[in-house]
Amino acid sequence: MSYRNTPVLVTGGLGFIGSNLALRLVEQGAQVTVVDPLVPGCGGNLHNIATVREQVEVIKRDISAAGHFASAIRRARVIFNLAGEVSHIHSMEFPERDLLINTVAQLRFLQVCVRHNPGVRVVYAGTRQVYGKPEYLPMDENHPVRPVDFNGVHKYAANMYHLMLSRSGQLDAVVLRLTNVYGPRMSLAIPCQGFLSTFLRCILTGQGLEVFGDGKQLRDPVFVDDAVEAFLLAGAAPALQERTLNVGGPEALSLLEIAQTCARAAGGLSVETRPFPEERAAIDIGSYATDCSLIRKTLGWKPQARFADGIESTLAFYRARLRHYLDPENPQADCSLPEHKGVQRRLKYAAV
Ligand SMILES: NC(=O)c1ccc[n+]([C@@H]2O[C@H](COP(=O)([O-])OP(=O)(O)OC[C@H]3O[C@@H](n4cnc5c(N)ncnc54)[C@H](O)[C@@H]3O)[C@@H](O)[C@H]2O)c1
Repeated sequence: MSYRNTPVLVTGGLGFIGSNLALRLVEQGAQVTVVDPLVPGCGGNLHNIATVREQVEVIKRDISAAGHFASAIRRARVIFNLAGEVSHIHSMEFPERDLLINTVAQLRFLQVCVRHNPGVRVVYAGTRQVYGKPEYLPMDENHPVRPVDFNGVHKYAANMYHLMLSRSGQLDAVVLRLTNVYGPRMSLAIPCQGFLSTFLRCILTGQGLEVFGDGKQLRDPVFVDDAVEAFLLAGAAPALQERTLNVGGPEALSLLEIAQTCARAAGGLSVETRPFPEERAAIDIGSYATDCSLIRKTLGWKPQARFADGIESTLAFYRARLRHYLDPENPQADCSLPEHKGVQRRLKYAAV
């Protein structure tokens, strides 16, 4: 399927991955509608879609109020469902907020989708966090699901809504279980968005990098352009045999290697290890690496960008427009705030 003239809906489309997806869809000639109220504490930023603002319809609504944009749901050929909260730490500090954003809002949204556009293809941004601590690596889709934090539990509930509604023929959903995604338009200003956001914030502000633990834990970051390609393929695929697909990066690297690559790309900054803070140790999953065989077989998808190259282009992106991502005069983008200070107030916002 080509996306040319195809009406599509992108929830969470002002956020990191959603905006990159919206941009690519515009490039491909799709009629793009974005739904995103810029939930405080999440990574949405209107500047993310500045270059295509005229070509995108933006509905500033929470997906839990989907009845208000039922017409956009009705006309969508594909719904890319990326609305959500990514932070595991936020989910532990504010579990009910995470429940409202990642589960309740999804349930309400999907019910409206079923009512107004039964059988529509929905591509949901799931997470590898649902698996919990790996029993084996690389991890495939058959691995037991034992999340270690509320974010994993709540995202898994939404994951199951998509699959359950597809089993009964009410939706035609596919769940992409993403590993750590990085790249342009990732939020740098909000704390606890993951180690890649923290590393980028540090190197763009000239600070050294700290790695928790011994730095030997493996991660397989995937560049956002590759992740976007997986969404596009999943949205366009004809009948789906498999509805749960892992999306991982091309290489499993230790956190120390990742930090050193970032520090080198920044022209040489210090990298130090330090003991895990208690709240992070409690939800650390150890090493993780994705088995991407199933998505390769199902959609022909394979990650392309090596980390060292992806991080170079990410830094080039931010250097050209840093004020939109780290602006001390904009409280949503305040890099001078130490982790958590001021953020708790913002997180009191209830999503629904
Ligand atoms: N970034 C990653 O590494 C990663 C990894 C695994 C899964 N995911 C999933 O991918 C999706 C997108 O992540 P991201 O990194 O782009 O996050 P992000 O915070 O940059 O973007 C999420 C966007 O969703 C919006 N949003 C949140 N709740 C909403 C609601 N109820 N209604 C409408 N919009 C809402 C926010 O305002 C924000 O703009 C999330 O669902 C996340 O769980 C991301």
